[in-house]
Amino acid sequence: MSAASRNTDQPLVLGLETSCDETGVGIVRGETLLFDAIASSVDEHARFGGVVPEVASRAHLEAMVPTIERATREAGVRLSDLDAIAVTSGPGLAGALMVGVGAAKALSVALGIPLYGVNHLASHVAVDIVEHGPLPEPTLAMLVSGGHSSLLLVPDVTHDIRSLGSTIDDAAGEAFDKVARVLGLPFPGGPHIDRMAREGNRVAIDFPRGLTTGRDMERYRFDFSFSGLKTSVARWVQAREAAGEPVPVADVAASFQEAVTDVLTRKAVLACKEHGVANLQIGGGVAANSRLRAMAQERCDAAGITLRVPRPGLCTDNGAMVASLGAQMVLKGRAPSDLGLPADSSMPVTQIQS
Ligand code: KG4
Ligand code: ZN
Repeated sequence: MSAASRNTDQPLVLGLETSCDETGVGIVRGETLLFDAIASSVDEHARFGGVVPEVASRAHLEAMVPTIERATREAGVRLSDLDAIAVTSGPGLAGALMVGVGAAKALSVALGIPLYGVNHLASHVAVDIVEHGPLPEPTLAMLVSGGHSSLLLVPDVTHDIRSLGSTIDDAAGEAFDKVARVLGLPFPGGPHIDRMAREGNRVAIDFPRGLTTGRDMERYRFDFSFSGLKTSVARWVQAREAAGEPVPVADVAASFQEAVTDVLTRKAVLACKEHGVANLQIGGGVAANSRLRAMAQERCDAAGITLRVPRPGLCTDNGAMVASLGAQMVLKGRAPSDLGLPADSSMPVTQIQS
């Protein structure tokens, strides 16, 4: 028996993530990550400029078994060593979710171990436990991904998550992806804008900061809007092109990124202050952004807030995050899900388990 599979009182949990275009299989022992295996179909979607649901579902089906085999091999565990299975049951693409939920049910029945159907967004919060240890309770979490931008008050990641605000139009990652397209950068655009912005001037263009002033700020205190910003960038670029002038891609990328990160970090720090929470955690794909990480650190330091952001590879979708939340469920004695649990494409952020 290998070191990783040796019996301890810490639960050994396998997590499956298939809500979008990443087939993620993570294996966690309690609060320790043993291995995180990912197979991505992102290249198959790139030429469409966005994720094609049918393509993603088929890719999950093909990748599932080899990715589970790779994860168990690299983690040095056997399926029979597992104490529980966790799976993303929502939100996400319906067909893609079904592949993960189906696989998880099969494993649960075959191995005779409990199954936990968990929320993708809560998993983005829980992943930080395998990186930085137990989550302070409460924590304020900001989730910024391709599908979501939310500010959450998290008294207990396994059963109490409250929404303080979210985007009223585009998600932060969606804005990165759309602006990248306007600038002729490949999909998904976030990492390309991040890279280009390093050579640009972030104060070159004063792009709008949505919902941060006057009545908007009162009414939408912890909500976000990125659609106006995206349109403003598109108009600015079109005006340049119409005038026959070159588009300073690096400056546009840096100025756009500055506007997004300014709004996100400003509202996150304000939410911490107004709710008396001294811990901020940032998760989701956009949390991989280098400027967001730096600005959040500066502003948290100035406000006396402890910031936790997982390493970039654990910010984007992965199986470790699901395994981490599953392990917390086991450790906190939460009841497993029913074997009839559905894939719920519109699962609300406040519903942690199905
Ligand atoms: O969490 P995630 O992997 O999938 C969803 O649940 O949506 O997030 C993907 C999003 C994409 O919009 C991608 O462009 C963005 O995260 N992203 C980034 C960076 N890396 C990924 N955005 C900005 N900067 C990055 N470095
Ligand atoms: Zn995600």
